[in-house]
Amino acid sequence: MTPFTDRQGKFSPLKTVTFGLALLPALVISYWFLTDQLGPLAVKAALRLVGDWTIRFLVIALALTPLQRVLNYPKIALIRRMLGVTAFAYALAHFLLYIVNVKYDLVFVATEIALRIYLTIGFVALLGLSLLAATSFDAAVRRLGKKWKLLHQSVYGIAVLGLLHYFIQTKADVSPATLMAGFYFLLMVYRVFINQRIALKPPVLAASALIAAILTVIAEFAWYGLATGIDPWRIAKANVLFTFGLRPAIIVLLVGLVPVAYVFARDSGIRNWFTARKATVSSL
Ligand code: HEM
Repeated sequence: MTPFTDRQGKFSPLKTVTFGLALLPALVISYWFLTDQLGPLAVKAALRLVGDWTIRFLVIALALTPLQRVLNYPKIALIRRMLGVTAFAYALAHFLLYIVNVKYDLVFVATEIALRIYLTIGFVALLGLSLLAATSFDAAVRRLGKKWKLLHQSVYGIAVLGLLHYFIQTKADVSPATLMAGFYFLLMVYRVFINQRIALKPPVLAASALIAAILTVIAEFAWYGLATGIDPWRIAKANVLFTFGLRPAIIVLLVGLVPVAYVFARDSGIRNWFTARKATVSSL
Protein backbone atom coordinates (compact mmCIF):
# COMPACT_ATOMS: atom_id res chain seq x y z
CA MET A 1 0.00 0.00 0.00
CA THR A 2 1.30 3.47 -0.89
CA PRO A 3 0.03 6.82 0.49
CA PHE A 4 -2.05 7.08 -2.69
CA THR A 5 -3.62 3.63 -3.01
CA ASP A 6 -6.08 1.45 -1.11
CA ARG A 7 -5.67 -2.21 -0.10
CA GLN A 8 -6.53 -3.35 -3.64
CA GLY A 9 -3.84 -1.07 -5.08
CA LYS A 10 -6.45 1.28 -6.57
CA PHE A 11 -5.96 5.05 -6.49
CA SER A 12 -7.58 6.46 -3.30
CA PRO A 13 -8.53 10.17 -3.41
CA LEU A 14 -9.16 10.07 0.38
CA LYS A 15 -5.64 8.80 1.14
CA THR A 16 -4.04 11.16 -1.37
CA VAL A 17 -5.79 14.24 0.05
CA THR A 18 -4.98 13.15 3.63
CA PHE A 19 -1.33 12.63 2.70
CA GLY A 20 -1.18 16.11 1.16
CA LEU A 21 -2.82 17.68 4.22
CA ALA A 22 -0.46 15.79 6.56
CA LEU A 23 2.54 17.21 4.71
CA LEU A 24 1.15 20.74 4.49
CA PRO A 25 2.13 22.05 7.99
CA ALA A 26 5.68 20.70 7.53
CA LEU A 27 5.96 22.40 4.15
CA VAL A 28 4.61 25.72 5.46
CA ILE A 29 6.92 25.67 8.52
CA SER A 30 9.91 24.79 6.28
CA TYR A 31 8.98 27.65 3.93
CA TRP A 32 8.75 30.13 6.84
CA PHE A 33 12.09 28.84 8.14
CA LEU A 34 13.86 29.12 4.79
CA THR A 35 12.47 32.58 4.13
CA ASP A 36 13.46 33.91 7.60
CA GLN A 37 9.88 34.43 8.76
CA LEU A 38 10.31 32.72 12.14
CA GLY A 39 12.16 35.51 13.95
CA PRO A 40 15.64 35.50 15.48
CA LEU A 41 15.12 32.16 17.31
CA ALA A 42 13.95 30.37 14.16
CA VAL A 43 14.84 26.81 15.23
CA LYS A 44 13.06 27.24 18.57
CA ALA A 45 10.02 28.71 16.80
CA ALA A 46 9.97 25.78 14.34
CA LEU A 47 10.35 23.33 17.25
CA ARG A 48 7.28 24.82 18.92
CA LEU A 49 5.18 24.92 15.75
CA VAL A 50 6.06 21.28 15.01
CA GLY A 51 5.21 20.38 18.65
CA ASP A 52 1.77 21.97 18.16
CA TRP A 53 1.19 19.86 15.05
CA THR A 54 2.36 16.71 16.83
CA ILE A 55 -0.37 17.00 19.44
CA ARG A 56 -2.94 18.06 16.81
CA PHE A 57 -2.25 15.03 14.60
CA LEU A 58 -2.36 12.77 17.65
CA VAL A 59 -5.81 14.10 18.54
CA ILE A 60 -6.96 13.93 14.89
CA ALA A 61 -5.81 10.28 14.72
CA LEU A 62 -7.86 9.52 17.85
CA ALA A 63 -10.89 11.30 16.37
CA LEU A 64 -11.10 8.97 13.37
CA THR A 65 -13.00 6.08 14.99
CA PRO A 66 -15.79 8.30 16.39
CA LEU A 67 -15.85 10.20 13.09
CA GLN A 68 -16.26 6.94 11.22
CA ARG A 69 -19.26 6.07 13.42
CA VAL A 70 -20.85 9.50 13.19
CA LEU A 71 -20.42 9.85 9.43
CA ASN A 72 -21.15 6.17 8.82
CA TYR A 73 -18.19 6.16 6.45
CA PRO A 74 -16.10 2.96 6.79
CA LYS A 75 -13.40 4.22 4.35
CA ILE A 76 -12.03 6.43 7.15
CA ALA A 77 -10.27 3.28 8.42
CA LEU A 78 -7.94 3.68 5.41
CA ILE A 79 -6.34 6.84 6.81
CA ARG A 80 -6.10 5.87 10.50
CA ARG A 81 -2.62 4.37 10.29
CA MET A 82 -1.40 7.16 8.02
CA LEU A 83 -2.39 9.82 10.55
CA GLY A 84 -0.87 7.87 13.45
CA VAL A 85 2.42 7.64 11.56
CA THR A 86 2.12 11.35 10.73
CA ALA A 87 1.90 12.17 14.46
CA PHE A 88 5.05 10.09 15.00
CA ALA A 89 6.90 11.83 12.13
CA TYR A 90 6.08 15.26 13.58
CA ALA A 91 7.14 14.11 17.09
CA LEU A 92 10.45 12.90 15.67
CA ALA A 93 10.99 16.16 13.76
CA HIS A 94 10.14 18.08 16.98
CA PHE A 95 12.78 16.08 18.87
CA LEU A 96 15.38 16.53 16.11
CA LEU A 97 14.75 20.28 16.12
CA TYR A 98 15.33 20.24 19.88
CA ILE A 99 18.73 18.62 19.23
CA VAL A 100 19.53 21.23 16.56
CA ASN A 101 18.41 23.99 18.95
CA VAL A 102 20.97 22.90 21.56
CA LYS A 103 23.71 22.73 18.90
CA TYR A 104 23.81 18.92 18.71
CA ASP A 105 25.09 18.59 22.29
CA LEU A 106 23.81 15.04 22.89
CA VAL A 107 25.17 14.84 26.45
CA PHE A 108 23.19 17.98 27.29
CA VAL A 109 20.10 16.50 25.58
CA ALA A 110 20.36 13.28 27.64
CA THR A 111 20.90 15.22 30.88
CA GLU A 112 17.98 17.56 30.21
CA ILE A 113 15.69 14.61 29.41
CA ALA A 114 16.73 12.95 32.66
CA LEU A 115 16.38 16.10 34.78
CA ARG A 116 13.46 18.07 33.36
CA ILE A 117 10.19 16.31 33.99
CA TYR A 118 8.39 17.80 30.95
CA LEU A 119 11.18 16.54 28.69
CA THR A 120 11.19 13.10 30.36
CA ILE A 121 7.43 12.85 29.75
CA GLY A 122 7.80 14.05 26.13
CA PHE A 123 10.57 11.55 25.52
CA VAL A 124 8.55 8.63 26.89
CA ALA A 125 5.68 9.73 24.61
CA LEU A 126 8.08 9.80 21.65
CA LEU A 127 9.36 6.28 22.49
CA GLY A 128 5.73 5.09 22.68
CA LEU A 129 4.89 6.61 19.30
CA SER A 130 8.07 5.04 17.80
CA LEU A 131 6.93 1.61 18.95
CA LEU A 132 3.48 2.14 17.44
CA ALA A 133 4.93 3.42 14.15
CA ALA A 134 7.35 0.48 13.98
CA THR A 135 4.46 -1.98 14.39
CA SER A 136 2.04 -0.20 12.08
CA PHE A 137 2.77 -2.40 9.04
CA ASP A 138 0.68 -5.34 7.85
CA ALA A 139 3.42 -7.85 8.70
CA ALA A 140 3.50 -6.62 12.33
CA VAL A 141 -0.32 -6.71 12.54
CA ARG A 142 -0.24 -10.38 11.41
CA ARG A 143 2.70 -11.34 13.64
CA LEU A 144 1.34 -9.71 16.83
CA GLY A 145 -2.25 -10.94 16.36
CA LYS A 146 -4.48 -9.94 19.29
CA LYS A 147 -1.56 -8.24 21.06
CA TRP A 148 -1.43 -5.66 18.24
CA LYS A 149 -4.75 -4.11 19.21
CA LEU A 150 -3.75 -4.02 22.88
CA LEU A 151 -0.41 -2.41 22.02
CA HIS A 152 -2.02 0.20 19.78
CA GLN A 153 -4.53 1.13 22.47
CA SER A 154 -1.58 2.62 24.34
CA VAL A 155 -1.96 5.61 21.99
CA TYR A 156 -4.55 6.99 24.45
CA GLY A 157 -1.94 6.94 27.25
CA ILE A 158 0.69 8.41 24.91
CA ALA A 159 -1.68 11.31 24.13
CA VAL A 160 -2.05 11.95 27.89
CA LEU A 161 1.76 12.16 28.17
CA GLY A 162 1.86 14.53 25.18
CA LEU A 163 -0.78 16.73 26.83
CA LEU A 164 1.04 16.75 30.19
CA HIS A 165 4.26 17.73 28.38
CA TYR A 166 2.31 20.54 26.69
CA PHE A 167 0.80 21.80 29.98
CA ILE A 168 4.05 21.70 31.96
CA GLN A 169 6.14 23.50 29.34
CA THR A 170 3.55 26.29 29.01
CA LYS A 171 4.82 29.35 30.83
CA ALA A 172 1.71 31.53 31.15
CA ASP A 173 -1.58 30.94 29.33
CA VAL A 174 -2.54 27.27 29.32
CA SER A 175 -5.64 27.85 27.13
CA PRO A 176 -4.21 26.16 24.00
CA ALA A 177 -3.15 23.11 26.05
CA THR A 178 -6.53 23.07 27.84
CA LEU A 179 -8.33 23.18 24.49
CA MET A 180 -6.42 20.13 23.23
CA ALA A 181 -7.12 18.35 26.54
CA GLY A 182 -10.82 19.22 26.09
CA PHE A 183 -10.88 17.62 22.63
CA TYR A 184 -9.15 14.60 24.12
CA PHE A 185 -11.88 14.36 26.82
CA LEU A 186 -14.56 14.56 24.14
CA LEU A 187 -12.95 11.70 22.21
CA MET A 188 -12.58 9.65 25.39
CA VAL A 189 -16.26 10.09 26.26
CA TYR A 190 -17.21 8.95 22.72
CA ARG A 191 -14.89 5.98 23.20
CA VAL A 192 -16.64 4.97 26.43
CA PHE A 193 -20.01 5.01 24.63
CA ILE A 194 -18.58 3.08 21.65
CA ASN A 195 -17.05 0.45 24.00
CA GLN A 196 -20.44 0.11 25.72
CA ARG A 197 -21.95 -0.40 22.24
CA ILE A 198 -24.14 2.67 22.69
CA ALA A 199 -24.98 4.24 19.31
CA LEU A 200 -23.75 7.80 18.81
CA LYS A 201 -27.23 9.32 18.41
CA PRO A 202 -27.93 13.04 19.04
CA PRO A 203 -28.74 12.73 22.80
CA VAL A 204 -25.58 10.65 23.40
CA LEU A 205 -23.48 13.07 21.34
CA ALA A 206 -24.96 16.06 23.21
CA ALA A 207 -24.27 14.41 26.57
CA SER A 208 -20.69 13.72 25.42
CA ALA A 209 -20.18 17.40 24.50
CA LEU A 210 -21.50 18.50 27.90
CA ILE A 211 -19.43 15.98 29.88
CA ALA A 212 -16.27 16.92 27.93
CA ALA A 213 -16.90 20.65 28.54
CA ILE A 214 -17.35 20.03 32.29
CA LEU A 215 -14.16 17.93 32.40
CA THR A 216 -12.34 20.74 30.58
CA VAL A 217 -13.47 23.28 33.21
CA ILE A 218 -12.35 20.90 35.98
CA ALA A 219 -8.93 20.31 34.34
CA GLU A 220 -8.40 24.05 33.85
CA PHE A 221 -9.53 24.82 37.40
CA ALA A 222 -7.21 22.13 38.82
CA TRP A 223 -4.27 23.36 36.75
CA TYR A 224 -4.64 27.00 37.77
CA GLY A 225 -5.35 26.01 41.38
CA LEU A 226 -2.43 23.62 41.76
CA ALA A 227 0.26 24.80 39.37
CA THR A 228 -0.08 28.61 39.27
CA GLY A 229 -0.71 31.50 41.61
CA ILE A 230 -3.78 32.59 39.59
CA ASP A 231 -7.21 32.38 41.27
CA PRO A 232 -8.89 29.37 39.56
CA TRP A 233 -12.40 30.74 40.38
CA ARG A 234 -11.76 33.78 38.17
CA ILE A 235 -10.94 31.48 35.25
CA ALA A 236 -13.90 29.18 36.00
CA LYS A 237 -16.31 32.16 36.10
CA ALA A 238 -14.93 33.40 32.77
CA ASN A 239 -16.55 30.35 31.15
CA VAL A 240 -19.99 31.81 31.83
CA LEU A 241 -19.23 35.54 31.92
CA PHE A 242 -17.03 35.51 28.77
CA THR A 243 -14.67 38.02 30.46
CA PHE A 244 -11.68 36.45 28.66
CA GLY A 245 -13.44 35.63 25.38
CA LEU A 246 -14.39 32.09 24.40
CA ARG A 247 -12.82 29.75 26.97
CA PRO A 248 -11.61 26.26 25.91
CA ALA A 249 -14.59 24.53 27.61
CA ILE A 250 -17.06 26.57 25.54
CA ILE A 251 -15.17 25.81 22.32
CA VAL A 252 -15.19 22.08 23.22
CA LEU A 253 -18.94 22.30 23.86
CA LEU A 254 -19.56 24.06 20.53
CA VAL A 255 -17.36 21.62 18.58
CA GLY A 256 -19.12 18.73 20.35
CA LEU A 257 -22.49 20.11 19.22
CA VAL A 258 -21.51 20.00 15.52
CA PRO A 259 -21.95 16.20 15.23
CA VAL A 260 -25.22 16.51 17.20
CA ALA A 261 -26.59 18.90 14.57
CA TYR A 262 -25.21 16.78 11.72
CA VAL A 263 -26.68 13.46 12.91
CA PHE A 264 -29.96 15.12 13.83
CA ALA A 265 -30.26 16.75 10.40
CA ARG A 266 -29.26 13.53 8.62
CA ASP A 267 -31.44 11.09 10.56
CA SER A 268 -34.63 13.00 10.95
CA GLY A 269 -35.52 16.59 10.52
CA ILE A 270 -34.11 18.05 7.38
CA ARG A 271 -34.44 15.08 4.99
CA ASN A 272 -38.06 14.41 6.04
CA TRP A 273 -38.80 18.11 5.93
CA PHE A 274 -37.54 18.33 2.32
CA THR A 275 -39.46 15.24 1.18
CA ALA A 276 -42.63 16.51 2.88
CA ARG A 277 -42.25 19.91 1.20
CA LYS A 278 -41.60 18.33 -2.20
CA ALA A 279 -44.75 16.20 -1.80
CA THR A 280 -46.80 19.28 -0.82
CA VAL A 281 -45.46 21.37 -3.70
CA SER A 282 -46.14 18.65 -6.30
CA SER A 283 -49.66 18.08 -4.99
CA LEU A 284 -50.51 21.78 -5.46
C1 HEM B 1 4.76 12.81 21.54
C2 HEM B 1 5.73 13.60 22.00
C3 HEM B 1 5.66 15.10 22.08
C4 HEM B 1 4.60 15.96 21.90
C5 HEM B 1 3.15 15.62 21.56
C6 HEM B 1 5.10 17.30 22.09
C7 HEM B 1 4.34 18.45 21.99
C8 HEM B 1 4.78 19.72 22.31
C9 HEM B 1 3.95 20.91 22.28
C10 HEM B 1 2.49 20.95 21.89
C11 HEM B 1 4.72 21.96 22.65
C12 HEM B 1 4.27 23.40 22.80
C13 HEM B 1 4.55 24.22 21.59
C14 HEM B 1 4.08 25.65 21.80
O1 HEM B 1 4.41 26.25 22.84
O2 HEM B 1 3.37 26.18 20.94
C15 HEM B 1 6.05 21.43 22.92
C16 HEM B 1 7.11 22.20 23.33
C17 HEM B 1 8.36 21.72 23.51
N1 HEM B 1 8.76 20.40 23.44
FE1 HEM B 1 7.63 18.81 22.93
N2 HEM B 1 6.44 17.22 22.43
C18 HEM B 1 6.82 15.90 22.41
C19 HEM B 1 8.07 15.40 22.67
C20 HEM B 1 9.17 16.17 22.96
C21 HEM B 1 10.52 15.68 23.15
C22 HEM B 1 10.94 14.21 23.07
C23 HEM B 1 11.31 16.77 23.43
C24 HEM B 1 12.78 16.83 23.68
C25 HEM B 1 13.44 16.00 24.40
C26 HEM B 1 10.47 17.93 23.42
C27 HEM B 1 10.90 19.23 23.66
C28 HEM B 1 10.12 20.36 23.68
C29 HEM B 1 10.60 21.70 23.94
C30 HEM B 1 12.04 22.09 24.26
C31 HEM B 1 9.49 22.56 23.82
C32 HEM B 1 9.48 24.09 23.93
C33 HEM B 1 9.54 24.58 25.32
C34 HEM B 1 9.72 26.09 25.36
O3 HEM B 1 9.13 26.81 24.58
O4 HEM B 1 10.49 26.50 26.22
N3 HEM B 1 9.18 17.55 23.13
N4 HEM B 1 6.05 20.08 22.70
